[in-house]
Amino acid sequence: MVDVVLDMIKDVGRWEVDSGKDAFSQVAESISVCDETREKGGSVGWVDRFGSERPTDAVFPASGVDLLYGKGLLKPGDVHNVETSAGFHVVQVLDVQTDLRSSIRQPSPKLKGGGYSTRTSGNENPTTYTLQTNGCQMNVADSERLRTQLQSSGLSEVEKKPDVVVVNTCSIRDHAEQKLYDYLGPFAKRKREGDPVTIVVTGCVAQQEGESLIRRVPEVDLVVGPQYINRVGDLLEDVKNGYQIVATDPTLISEDQARPVRDDPFRAWVPVINGCNEHCSYCVVPNTRGVEQSRTLNAIVGEMRDLKENGYKEITLLGQNIDAYGRDLKPKSNFADLLKVADGVGLDRVRYVTSHPRYFSDKVVDAVRDLKSVCEQFHLPPQAGSDSVLSNMRRGYTFDSYMRIVRRIKDRCGDDAGITGDIIVGFPGETEEDFQRTLDLLEAVKYDNLNAFAYSPRPYTDAALASEQVDEDVKADRLQRVQRLAVKHGMERSERYLGREVEVLVEGRNKKVTQEEECMGKTRQGRQVFFEGDVDELIGKLVFVKIDEARPWSLRGTLVNVK
Ligand code: 5AD
Ligand code: SF4
Repeated sequence: MVDVVLDMIKDVGRWEVDSGKDAFSQVAESISVCDETREKGGSVGWVDRFGSERPTDAVFPASGVDLLYGKGLLKPGDVHNVETSAGFHVVQVLDVQTDLRSSIRQPSPKLKGGGYSTRTSGNENPTTYTLQTNGCQMNVADSERLRTQLQSSGLSEVEKKPDVVVVNTCSIRDHAEQKLYDYLGPFAKRKREGDPVTIVVTGCVAQQEGESLIRRVPEVDLVVGPQYINRVGDLLEDVKNGYQIVATDPTLISEDQARPVRDDPFRAWVPVINGCNEHCSYCVVPNTRGVEQSRTLNAIVGEMRDLKENGYKEITLLGQNIDAYGRDLKPKSNFADLLKVADGVGLDRVRYVTSHPRYFSDKVVDAVRDLKSVCEQFHLPPQAGSDSVLSNMRRGYTFDSYMRIVRRIKDRCGDDAGITGDIIVGFPGETEEDFQRTLDLLEAVKYDNLNAFAYSPRPYTDAALASEQVDEDVKADRLQRVQRLAVKHGMERSERYLGREVEVLVEGRNKKVTQEEECMGKTRQGRQVFFEGDVDELIGKLVFVKIDEARPWSLRGTLVNVK
């Protein structure tokens, strides 16, 4: 019987999102012999390895918890069959939380041979720094926090000949490590020749490489994983005292009470959840940024209010999988509620990235429709169109269920809502037929903007080990075909603005032209708009622009008035 139930769940499609209910809930509601399970659609609570939290004995006895954990590594999406004295239990794992509080400790200086190593190293009296940032918006946000740490350590930013050089690295694609070693080379040489520069590597490559980074470039003084960004000030003190440190053990991310030193006076990044509990088979992020850790609502609201008081107009909430916001908090919270709170702060515009199609909820679509400041822009990366590739990627949705989300967005927020996405071509085993499904998906959605990437094998990921790697020239060809189609769709989406007056938040100068008076800003849906105007006067303001010209990724128009 249990096997029949397991097959039913697989048949309905594990993550059927259309009815708002997944397959597991539907099966639980219709055939469970337990009243509570039927009533709650299978959602009977959480279990805790150490027994402090669990549904009633009748629903799931303690022996079941042990049996469940005995099944080995539990992953979100798994369905297990557990037999106890109360009968058979079909258990679906929705999420696996790691209690990081038990691992709070000072960064352990795991070094060549272990222990702190005292040595004559970096600059003992540094006064200046440079900071290089690579990668995504999360890294940009981390760098703003890093700057706060560096400046409160008494350092000021310079362009040349710094006493402390900091590289905030990214490892999502390519051979980022190689680029890092090339960049570090001249500083390491300078140090070998007797000039005491302190070398700090932060971010995802730091986390991924850890100690081996120091083995390879022994001149590096400090290796800092993303979870330690807010502790760099203290770590630098240790470095000044001659220690060489690797801070990469999983830890609870601390809130920094100080303000980040931001690049932009009007638009700010606000991280809301760090890390990712998904295990998409191509992605290095769960390894480098660790398990999900949501910031508390209080901390986020405090930061947003401070931004509003200081003249900020737009914020972008950041998370690798932002729909997971709040599920690790006690009490739990959710992303739609966070959007409501964010709207209450009274900023002009609230944006957010990145949504995961597997968790994206109707509540979020409704929040975007109903909340004044939340922009009608959805970054919803599909990654691929073929169901078998999606399944091998472990994305947890299908072509059809993805399209249902797109339709719901259009139904509720109108055709004007901007939809953007990311695509990976040449995932291991992707056939020409699979790839055609990606093109079909692009035709069906017509993205406003699309980032397309050739699959790049990453360390410690399952897909990198797959035997059917796709040839680089096939990847390059598919990438071109995706990009060609994306440009066509981008143009079609731009043309809808022709002749219309749109609200634009002015971000600054058009950096591509030398003319002084060309302003650049964005529509609520995230389209770039260029127009003639006094940049110094208009920067940070909301204006209305009449659109005269459409290009694939941008618009050109004439200033009508200032809001
Ligand atoms: N190869 C290519 N692209 C990747 N991405 C993530 N991992 C890889 C990889 N190994 C892309 C995904 C993701 C975006 C941020 O980077 O499309 O959405
Ligand atoms: Fe990587 Fe995003 Fe998948 Fe998380 S959800 S594993 S960050 S692609």
